[in-house]
Amino acid sequence: METKVGKEELLALGGELIREGFAVAFPTETVYGLGGDAYNEKAVEAIFNAKGRPQDNPLIVHISSPKELEGVAVDVPKAAYKLFEVFSPGPLTLVLKKSPLIPKRTTGGLDTVGVRIPDHPLALGLIKAAARPIAAPSANVSGRVSPTEASHVLEDMKGKIPLILDGGKTRVGIESTVLDLTKDIPVILRPGAVTAGMLAPVLGAVKVFSGEVVVAEAPGMKYKHYSPVCPCVGVNGPQTARAEYEKREGEGLNPVLVASDNLIEKSGIKNAISLGNSPEAAMANLFSALRKAEKKFGYILLEWFEGADYYPVQNRIKKATGGAVIR
Ligand code: TXA
Ligand code: MG
Repeated sequence: METKVGKEELLALGGELIREGFAVAFPTETVYGLGGDAYNEKAVEAIFNAKGRPQDNPLIVHISSPKELEGVAVDVPKAAYKLFEVFSPGPLTLVLKKSPLIPKRTTGGLDTVGVRIPDHPLALGLIKAAARPIAAPSANVSGRVSPTEASHVLEDMKGKIPLILDGGKTRVGIESTVLDLTKDIPVILRPGAVTAGMLAPVLGAVKVFSGEVVVAEAPGMKYKHYSPVCPCVGVNGPQTARAEYEKREGEGLNPVLVASDNLIEKSGIKNAISLGNSPEAAMANLFSALRKAEKKFGYILLEWFEGADYYPVQNRIKKATGGAVIR
């Protein structure tokens, strides 16, 4: 199938394709999504097939306004409306009790559904053009790094889907915070740009899921995610970065350092890709840096950031490295 790439001039076509049951890729403020009609099992199947995604990993349902919650969730707690008022449109997904209108295919067999309002004109425009909620995981092939540019989506989805809406580089760069509101105390299942510190004043209490995943709370937790195709290891300082770099260079592995400008400078390593110098920059640049690194190099040294502000980005780095860090 031919894969068209375009901007807002293709929104009407995008809406039509979604209504017909096709999967369409679109930008959000976090990462690109691969969207389909959340009510249509065939459309959801097309998404799972294009991604090669395990069937029990639920999709996030995207809506364009809190009014549309009625069509996707039931027994919606007041806290959900409060949170949407403060943080939406934005990078926060709420797990709520599923409406019978949403097929279990969409929610990976669960009675709950993840819902969010994305902060991007093309995403909101597509939901409006389709006139229905859009189920969308990140638009990467399962197990690969999430796409933050239309060219990344094309790499993974060319020939498999009819349309990619191109909104340039995504602003936030890592996937939304997933917050489970079906528990007595709300739990963050996946950290993101909306942090526990930001949620606490609205919710009173919030827990952060931590520790080993034995029974996966967010089914996505149990799958290895965000992996570059070459080996990737964490490094926590200029000396260890330098030593590991020289060792791997000696082995002929063509290594690269992906790190803050600060660490790059201190390590003196020339083969390096910058993540900038702030938590926001590291979030925004991480996934595109990993895609760039794996194309040109054979071994990735990734900065092992410390500190609460880096918590969401560190979560993705742990997944990319499988938790391996050279100290
Ligand atoms: O920023 C984002 O959230 C992006 C954009 C496209 O919106 N989407 C995204 O989708 O990252 P995906 O499918 O790659 O990740 C969704 C995560 C998975 O870990 C999944 O298990 C969890 O959300 N999730 C979805 N519905 C859930 C539910 N009902 N209960 C628990 N976890 C859920
Ligand atoms: Mg994903």
